[in-house]
Amino acid sequence: MRRQSSGLVHPTCPAHSGASAGFPQCEDEPFMSHSAEPDPSPAVVASFKPSRTVVLIGLMGSGKSSVGRKLAHRLALPFRDADSEIEHAAGLSIPEIFATHGEAYFRDGERRVIARLLDEPPHILATGGGAYMDPRTRAAIADKGLSIWLRVDLDELVRRTARRNHRPLLNQGDPRQILANLMEQRYPVYADAKVTVDGGAGDVDEMVDRVLAALIAYSTSADTAPAHSE
Ligand code: S3P
Repeated sequence: MRRQSSGLVHPTCPAHSGASAGFPQCEDEPFMSHSAEPDPSPAVVASFKPSRTVVLIGLMGSGKSSVGRKLAHRLALPFRDADSEIEHAAGLSIPEIFATHGEAYFRDGERRVIARLLDEPPHILATGGGAYMDPRTRAAIADKGLSIWLRVDLDELVRRTARRNHRPLLNQGDPRQILANLMEQRYPVYADAKVTVDGGAGDVDEMVDRVLAALIAYSTSADTAPAHSE
């Protein structure tokens, strides 16, 4: 199966022109992806083990949990969902936490839960959409994890989030407008992620294929450098 486009191309880094595999000089610069790459072979997938926890970031509805769960299955790694862990720790659902204690309390718990999860052995970690906006969480992810941004367009996010009403932030007005505002605030910050994978068209399995290919390409060709994959 081929993805629409999954090549990893760094806009400025010579290593990404194919010249060399290591490019520490490019660390923390974003990659752009415009070329198609074959999916990794089943043998490559079977032998691939990330050395760090793979942290999925992105807006509500971007598929972090559903992609993360399947990705973990494909890589035979544990899956953790930060939102579920927060709910478990609080003994309350997220809407209940927001209603009873407020968003600041939730954010504090979110930061502490993610810090704890990042100390666990490598796994696949889905975070809530606001988690990466916390500078301490971003620093912890940069230090101990590998961030992958699932970048999805507004229409698709609106369509997906309309299916359920368990997200307190989207119950405060027009969901499209709220998501558009969050995109404006958050996408520049999400863009710090080491790897960006464009999602939207296609089902969860296709997205998992794309994430897997981007992850393996990033890990094998760059080791530590940031990447973008469309
Ligand atoms: C939030 C996203 C939610 C959840 C909470 C706040 C956000 O997680 O953490 O409702 O600030 O974007 P999902 O992104 O998994 O829906």
